[in-house]
Amino acid sequence: MIDLHTEYLGLSLRSPLVASAGPFTGDLDKIRELNEAGVAAIVLPSLFEEQIEHETAEIDRLYTTHENSFGEATSFMPELDHYNTGTDAYLALIESARGIVDIPVIASLNGANIGGWLRYARLLEDAGADALELNLYSVAADPAIPGQDIEAEQLELVSLLTGDVGLPVAVKISPFYTSVASFALGLQDAGASGIVLFNRFYAPDLDLERLDVKPKISLSRPAELGLPLRWIGILREFLDLSLAGSTGVHSGRDAVKLLLAGADVTMMTSALLFNGASHVAQIEQELEEWMLQHDYRSVSQLRGAVSRDATADPAAYERANYIGNLTSYSSRFIAGQPIRLQSR
Ligand SMILES: Cc1cc2nc3c(=O)[nH]c(=O)nc-3n(C[C@H](O)[C@H](O)[C@H](O)COP(=O)(O)O)c2cc1C
Repeated sequence: MIDLHTEYLGLSLRSPLVASAGPFTGDLDKIRELNEAGVAAIVLPSLFEEQIEHETAEIDRLYTTHENSFGEATSFMPELDHYNTGTDAYLALIESARGIVDIPVIASLNGANIGGWLRYARLLEDAGADALELNLYSVAADPAIPGQDIEAEQLELVSLLTGDVGLPVAVKISPFYTSVASFALGLQDAGASGIVLFNRFYAPDLDLERLDVKPKISLSRPAELGLPLRWIGILREFLDLSLAGSTGVHSGRDAVKLLLAGADVTMMTSALLFNGASHVAQIEQELEEWMLQHDYRSVSQLRGAVSRDATADPAAYERANYIGNLTSYSSRFIAGQPIRLQSR
């Protein structure tokens, strides 16, 4: 009997397979299907900083307009919490999801600037979320702001959030920090209970007919697993908080790799969009089969078995094997051997 149980953000999960924020987790029917397929927790799609700030500005504008017109205007203005906005729809989604599944429901906030939008975290908590995920999605495009200022603001934001809510907070980060390791330690010091490595940036494309920039969302491929794999392997030894591997998990073997590197959970969006919600059950089966074949009885036995600390060649997660890899690749190429596309 294989024990798939794991802990994430202090929550007890039946397995390490979590559905990350995406279209499926915003749909109640899909949430039911994911639950039936055995998913251990779901992360709802994000409520965005811009969305909250926009709504707040609209509400302020309404208040101001009426206040100017009537002396007692505020007495009949709707309370902020009951205002019928996108934010309300989000709170309703948390409540509905909570009502139909018993697995943990993690709400997600997406933004990177300190501001009034952060106070919505409390509403997500009140609506019944079991934990919060903060996605620090931002493109640092202003040349006047140095990287350390951006990081300092992000860490302060995490501190404010973790100080304000009673829920455990996971922070979803991009791989684009000069020192992912130092920033990760900063997140732990700021009170984060977990880090999700990594969010995936959507690069723009150019429309060659309209000569315009167009947004482009593409789904991940298994080859992208290497990035979270490297960083989870490196970070596991000096961080006490939970680590979630996200990006490129498409099979049970991908999940095994992240767990071996030291992840507490693995997350999926693209694989579910490609294969449907029932894919979770297949991944669980593949995970169990691999564990049986390799004599692992529990996920806790598996976790971190090949982290940097635990491996015979710690440098393999870093730069050292770079030269070796390049040399073997070049010599095969020069010898005329066909280079096959690798499937992980
Ligand atoms: C269509 C789509 C919508 C997404 N929406 C969100 C979101 O609202 N919030 C968020 O943090 N991540 C969002 N993501 C990112 C995923 O949660 C995940 O981090 C990313 O797709 C990489 O994981 P994967 O390789 O399993 O797809 C979205 C991804 C896709 C494809």
